[in-house]
Amino acid sequence: MTVDGGRARAGAGQGGAQAAAPAVALRGASLAFGPRTLWSGLDLDISPGEFFAVLGPNGSGKTSFLKVLLGLRRLTSGSAVIAGRPAGSAGRDVGYIPQQKGFAADASLRARDLVGLGVDGHRWGIRLSRRKADVEIDGLLERVGASDYAKVPVGQLSGGELQRLRVAQAIAGGPSVLLCDEPLLALDLNHQQAVSALIDRQRAETGAAVVFVTHEINPILDYVDRILYLAQGQFRVGSPQEVMTTEVLSDLYGSRVEVSRVNGRIVVLGLPDATTHLHHDHTHAALALDQNAEEGEA
Ligand SMILES: Nc1ncnc2c1ncn2[C@@H]1O[C@H](COP(=O)(O)OP(=O)(O)OP(=O)(O)O)[C@@H](O)[C@H]1O
Ligand SMILES: [Mg+2]
Repeated sequence: MTVDGGRARAGAGQGGAQAAAPAVALRGASLAFGPRTLWSGLDLDISPGEFFAVLGPNGSGKTSFLKVLLGLRRLTSGSAVIAGRPAGSAGRDVGYIPQQKGFAADASLRARDLVGLGVDGHRWGIRLSRRKADVEIDGLLERVGASDYAKVPVGQLSGGELQRLRVAQAIAGGPSVLLCDEPLLALDLNHQQAVSALIDRQRAETGAAVVFVTHEINPILDYVDRILYLAQGQFRVGSPQEVMTTEVLSDLYGSRVEVSRVNGRIVVLGLPDATTHLHHDHTHAALALDQNAEEGEA
């Protein structure tokens, strides 16, 4: 199975001639809620160091897919193994950035306290000494470019600043699989690029597999190896070139969908109205194109 789409894989799969065990392995996986099947017959291996995107309209089961990997949802049938263990038992080998929720403006938790939750939470058993934890937190804050606002209460931070902290929290302890649920939501283009780059750097430097749920493929197009596209109870898996085509998306949605490439970006038109995010996608695609045209970016 093609995994890396021909892209240079700095850091991934270092140190061994042996084929690495998959970071995520699903066999015959199905998930249904009552009569509604989100997906079925999903066989999938995600490799260490792979950047794997999960796309699809609202309600197609993207968050549920991550929750299966976290062991928070049981498959209706089939099996899910993550970091070599059954879903739900991989502990600190799995990092998770949940779908974004804000903090009350008067929340007293400081930025470094939020990152600290990731550090302490991963160290059950032997508690880290305060000093060691502080050193680790400082390193994480620096890694995500958040040192300057380490002591600012989280309620006062911007969406982009907060999202950097969530990345720091999720990468504490160096997980081998990083699950990210719409980490770019509500971020402007610059912050989308910065947060995507941070996550990809973690992947490249540690060989972690990244499973990245998103409504918008363009900000991560340079990084993505493969896509799982969920829609209407069906799915497709493949490289962006294989999946993001007029034929594949029209087939998935059961109606005519046009996919074109403009300035190296993917523009999807004609998605069914019921898939509410799609208007949002159009707007963003159009904005991204406008902005790129202004900036003269490829
Ligand atoms: N515990 C549950 N019981 C019944 N239905 C559920 C449950 N959890 C999720 N669902 C349904 O499953 C579908 C998929 O939900 P999920 O949150 O995975 O979608 P999503 O693709 O992440 O959507 P969004 O883009 O809006 O975040 C939705 O229709 C949701 O209502
Ligand atoms: Mg979701």
